[in-house]
Amino acid sequence: MKRKVISMLLATTMVMSLLAGCGSSSTETTETDTAEGTAAEETVEAAEETENAGELPILGAGIYSSSDNFNSYIGKAIVNASNGVFQTNIDDGQNDQSTQNNQIDTMLAKGASCIAVSVVDVTAASNIIDKCKEAGNVPIIFFNKEITDQTLLAGYDNCYQVTSTGGDYGAAIQGQMIVDYWKSHPEMDKNGDGKLQLIDIMGDPGHTASQPRADYVKSTIEDGGVALDLLEEDTGMWDTAKAKEKMDAWVSKYGNEIECIVAGNDAMALGALQSVEAAGFNAEGPDGEQYIPIIGIDALPEMLDKIESGEVMGSVLQDAKTQGQTIVKMAQNLTDGKDVLDGVAFELEDGAKAIRVPYAAITKDNLDVAKSTYAE
Ligand code: GAL
Ligand code: CA
Repeated sequence: MKRKVISMLLATTMVMSLLAGCGSSSTETTETDTAEGTAAEETVEAAEETENAGELPILGAGIYSSSDNFNSYIGKAIVNASNGVFQTNIDDGQNDQSTQNNQIDTMLAKGASCIAVSVVDVTAASNIIDKCKEAGNVPIIFFNKEITDQTLLAGYDNCYQVTSTGGDYGAAIQGQMIVDYWKSHPEMDKNGDGKLQLIDIMGDPGHTASQPRADYVKSTIEDGGVALDLLEEDTGMWDTAKAKEKMDAWVSKYGNEIECIVAGNDAMALGALQSVEAAGFNAEGPDGEQYIPIIGIDALPEMLDKIESGEVMGSVLQDAKTQGQTIVKMAQNLTDGKDVLDGVAFELEDGAKAIRVPYAAITKDNLDVAKSTYAE
């Protein structure tokens, strides 16, 4: 196999870094150690040892940023699912595309049999695909950050993506949860004007899911018969601290006029919670004196605690574990030359080389569904 040859050749100069990178046990053998045998013999031995030490193929995996909580959970799920199947560790792209490009070059140089990444910048996908082709048609699975240009995926047989379902990115479920809460909790309309005074904290505006999440949550609320009064809408960049900063200003401006806070992800919902709690809301849950229903997306473990305590109303599960397991199974199939969907519980979306893992509504009543997603 061409890739194997490349990796053997690279082993002549990169033995030590290879072994370090693969987490294999170390060896004394280097090219310069020529006391016994020729350098060439030593090199072959080293390459053989490398093959033996790392019997498992390499999955070159990376996330766009380790400061993104949800991506970190997918990374963990990939590592867990790779146990006994692939050697892997999760590279942190540090939210910098050139850093991630270098990481992918290194993965390919190490002889990775498949690449799986959430890209920093979706427009870099084409360049990354080219790298994989040049390295001997190495398969690539994109995850989380959706590559919307289907022609890119269609143009390379060994290219797929794994994300969550649908163009609404989970926000229709979120909107429906707000409608249901409004209908079952008349006290949500604090000022009795028949409208929902809402604050919307959006994700990174450069991200494919941000605008659709903001749009679908609002349209679903209105389609559900609830009139909206949008007090504020701005980005929190998917980030807890940035969302808290925005919310600090809004809570001091509107206080108890706020009837609901919706966030494009849980990290930002948790930032909003910190902010409102500092202003005297939510610590005692919905039965406390001052309460603002907050809802996010992802259903991260740290969010589940807050839903359980009543400080947060709910979230929408993105199933990191199933995504990680699906990515690894597809990578294994592609490595073994099998049908990519062999043993995979999902079908490809019509007209797209994409697996979509469904979202699910999470409240206090079904926390177990989300908990099991994050169990090891
Ligand atoms: C979204 C997720 C966010 C963030 C983002 C980054 O799907 O809800 O929390 O991880 O992806 O791409
Ligand atoms: Ca109202």
